[in-house]
Amino acid sequence: MKNFWVDLPKPFTVLAPLDGVTDVVFRQIVTELGKPDVLFTEFTSCDGLQSVGSEKVAQNLKFYPNEQPIVAQIWGANPENFYKTAKLIKELGFVGVDINMGCPARAVIEHGVCSALINNPRLAGDIIQATKDGADGLPVSVKTRIGFGKESIEDWIGFLLRQKIATLTVHLRTVEELSKVPAHWELMPQIMTLRNALAPETLIIGNGDIVSLQEVQEKFDLYGCDGFMIGRGIFANPWVFNPSKKEATREDRIETFVKHIDLYGKTWGAERNFAPLKKFCKTYINNFEGAARCREKLMEAETLEELRNGVADLNDMVEA
Ligand SMILES: Cc1cc2nc3c(=O)[nH]c(=O)nc-3n(C[C@H](O)[C@H](O)[C@H](O)COP(=O)(O)O)c2cc1C
Repeated sequence: MKNFWVDLPKPFTVLAPLDGVTDVVFRQIVTELGKPDVLFTEFTSCDGLQSVGSEKVAQNLKFYPNEQPIVAQIWGANPENFYKTAKLIKELGFVGVDINMGCPARAVIEHGVCSALINNPRLAGDIIQATKDGADGLPVSVKTRIGFGKESIEDWIGFLLRQKIATLTVHLRTVEELSKVPAHWELMPQIMTLRNALAPETLIIGNGDIVSLQEVQEKFDLYGCDGFMIGRGIFANPWVFNPSKKEATREDRIETFVKHIDLYGKTWGAERNFAPLKKFCKTYINNFEGAARCREKLMEAETLEELRNGVADLNDMVEA
């Protein structure tokens, strides 16, 4: 099985996994507006996939061929379930498996998973090995933070680099910092030096606070990371990966939101509540005169149809 990571341009761009945001519907929109070099699914529970109610969890692994190359991100506590899930991911046609070792939510930490693995390298190592065994040649990567309570580049990042993974995404904050402080890009040179010494084959993806392709280039010139991942920047600007899109117009925004709502209805139907769509009001209904007033009105929608019609009618509302 070919390791697709090695054929990417330098620097390559990656859409971050954003739980509740980057589902297959939003990824279709992003793919059309300006496609990054690599897409990730939202994080998906291996333990959930291997238990009763797994169909709902498996929704996270839905994707369309035009999203390739797409990597499935997984999390969990049980190496055996990582093994089985990695096998499934290969069968489904993903080109890579990524292990979440960075989510700081209290609920996951209490179960010893995701970022809690920073304090349990033995289990982290077992999980990586089990995933590699199940992935059977599909490249395995890890996404993590720089430490738990304080930065731990030598110990934690060094440990991960010794596991011979294809790619390591580093979100440059500790777990306890959540997203409350600026990302510690000043630590990237130390990470790159360590990578060059311990695991020259492992690619490094830098992550934290990037909101434009210009910043990607600037950070590439400064640090030489192989790739850069953008998260909240896509939520603020779905055109962020499109080098030729300068400023989306009001019409672009309204038309794209209608498309997004229609695709959501078609994809999830009665399976999912429409309410999560409302958080995209801030994404699309923004950066034009009267946008705040329009958003307020849209937040009152009680059904998907009401939201859709409200958005479609917006041109008239703004002009009124
Ligand atoms: C709403 C939301 C959901 C997220 N879900 C995930 C996830 O499923 N898996 C993951 O590894 N990181 C997740 N993250 C973290 C992002 O992938 C990213 O590391 C973080 O937002 C920093 O990058 P940014 O500054 O470009 O947003 C999430 C972040 C947000 C804000």
